[in-house]
Amino acid sequence: MSKMFSMTGRVALVTGASRGLGFAMAEGLAENGATVVLNGRDAKTLGECVKKLTDKGYKADFLAFDVMDEKAARKGVDDVMAKHGRFDILIANAGMTLRRPIADWTMEEWHKVLNADLTSCFVMTQQAVKHMRVNKHGRIIYTTSLTALRGRPGIHAYVAAKTGLVGMCRSLAAELAPDGITVNGVLPGYFKTVLNQALLDDPAFVEFVNGRTPMKRWGEPRELAPAAVFLASDASSFVTGQQIVVDGGMSSMV
Ligand SMILES: NC(=O)c1ccc[n+]([C@@H]2O[C@H](COP(=O)([O-])OP(=O)(O)OC[C@H]3O[C@@H](n4cnc5c(N)ncnc54)[C@H](OP(=O)(O)O)[C@@H]3O)[C@@H](O)[C@H]2O)c1
Repeated sequence: MSKMFSMTGRVALVTGASRGLGFAMAEGLAENGATVVLNGRDAKTLGECVKKLTDKGYKADFLAFDVMDEKAARKGVDDVMAKHGRFDILIANAGMTLRRPIADWTMEEWHKVLNADLTSCFVMTQQAVKHMRVNKHGRIIYTTSLTALRGRPGIHAYVAAKTGLVGMCRSLAAELAPDGITVNGVLPGYFKTVLNQALLDDPAFVEFVNGRTPMKRWGEPRELAPAAVFLASDASSFVTGQQIVVDGGMSSMV
């Protein structure tokens, strides 16, 4: 492991880490020495994920809570600090989507997606910053999305939330730099995860993504991890307010 990317002694909370991109990023941080606290809503699954990491000799723990529950989310951040004695890295990754034409959206659905994908990230950030300021060091990373750069029909609340996150990265970066806290995003294209199961089950859509991607394939979750490792480690000490696009080149091609 290069010393530049070492996170030994650092404590990270990764939301939505019971599978998919969150688990892959948590594993990447743990591989590089961080103690990772995995979050999701199901304690049993999280316990199994922690075992996968500790079996490899990594330091891992879990905390089950719903990021949409403001009180639980704030307590979750504080619990990490209380149990592990420091709070260095927040990867606010948990997210969801709904797909339907504009006419079919209810306001309840709109608010649910915005709460899961945007408001929860604000809440967790606000709480984490209190602890990060103690050490004048922090790394905040959001999982944004290619849909913050390119639209798709039907996922209006998701696109609004992810585009909002990209903007929030910039305003927080501007405010928090004097505290030694950086705020950046990893911006994935299409990856093979449960979130995309309905799309993966549609051969025409799978081919559409393959055709629109210079690398002619979907991403594997572990391919997002190195971007998160860079942004979470001291290697990115002069990088803030940015997005690292990991999309097989999709956003570069007309
Ligand atoms: N996959 C892609 O191609 C892609 C592309 C761009 C952006 N993203 C973003 O990447 C992030 C992760 O997506 P993914 O593809 O890995 O999805 P996924 O496989 O569906 O995993 C989502 C994770 O979030 C957890 N989660 C969902 N709602 C939660 C809540 N309210 N509170 C706490 N945990 C919650 C899930 O665990 P439980 O259900 O057990 O709680 C799970 O661990 C999302 O923000 C997504 O928008 C994904």
